[in-house]
Amino acid sequence: MKIPKRLHPLVEDGLIDHIICQLQSGKEAQVYMVRCGEDVRCAKVYKEANKRSFKQAVQYQEGRTGRNSRRTRAMQKRTRYGQKESEEAWLSAEVDALYRLAAAGVRVPQPYGFVDGVLLMELITDSDGHAAPRLSDVSFSHEQALEHHSKIISEVVRMLCAGLVHGDLSEFNVLVDHNGPVIIDLPQAVNAAGNNSARMMLERDVNNMSAYFSRYAPELFATAYGKEIWSHYESGNLYPEIELTGHFVDSTITADVEGVMTVIDAALKEEYERQRREQEAHSDFNP
Ligand SMILES: Nc1ncnc2c1ncn2[C@@H]1O[C@H](COP(=O)(O)OP(=O)(O)OP(=O)(O)O)[C@@H](O)[C@H]1O
Ligand SMILES: [Mg+2]
Repeated sequence: MKIPKRLHPLVEDGLIDHIICQLQSGKEAQVYMVRCGEDVRCAKVYKEANKRSFKQAVQYQEGRTGRNSRRTRAMQKRTRYGQKESEEAWLSAEVDALYRLAAAGVRVPQPYGFVDGVLLMELITDSDGHAAPRLSDVSFSHEQALEHHSKIISEVVRMLCAGLVHGDLSEFNVLVDHNGPVIIDLPQAVNAAGNNSARMMLERDVNNMSAYFSRYAPELFATAYGKEIWSHYESGNLYPEIELTGHFVDSTITADVEGVMTVIDAALKEEYERQRREQEAHSDFNP
């Protein structure tokens, strides 16, 4: 097919030999199947900021940093330079997340670099070598649904152990190959420790998956894997092989406000005493 304009620089640099076909034009990007030497890969071309419908929202950007502190400050100020930096940070977020997650053993496409706004990555295929279907394109038996759901929950746990929450996980952003689910589409991934919405997004991601698979396995609908995962994460007890139950009971222990106030009062008294002794010692020296 004719080489799309945005892929010209990569063809000229020899990173891509030719374009096989366009896979899909999503809301955020165009995705192409391309030949790179012996390999068939995937090239994701991000749309310009004003043509994207996503949520390049503040909510997702919180906790993201620029390449240095000056850039991070500029991003926060939203000056023209700051907006350019934010756009670059947004675009490179997906390749950064893919490298991080692939290294942590999460099933994501292997990234091969990010050049001129184009992400090159592994093409996930079905057993015939065609682009793999999305979860939404496949139907499952009860047993298969439970197995796929469980695998995706494990991937979400592994992602969180690597410090990231997907933030837009749905049946459209998971592909299925012969080994099971592969998670894609991560430009909006959020930093779990630095983003106040991370907990809400993790629960939403997990609930989306449970609701989707409950079409085939209705018992998944009432599970609470998201809350359970976050409570382990928060208490520092989350690890990739953790066995989850899907049940979660909100803590009913009420905060011991009176006890905390007593401790604060005692600390204040101690500090007051220390200052008083210091003053006395000072006046002994300067009578
Ligand atoms: N690595 C890959 N291997 C195979 N197919 C892929 C790969 N990455 C993306 N695709 C295909 O391209 C489609 C769009 O990709 P992606 O979800 O990353 O882009 P998007 O524009 O953000 O999508 P949308 O906003 O519509 O969710 C996917 O649904 C999938 O069918
Ligand atoms: Mg998508």
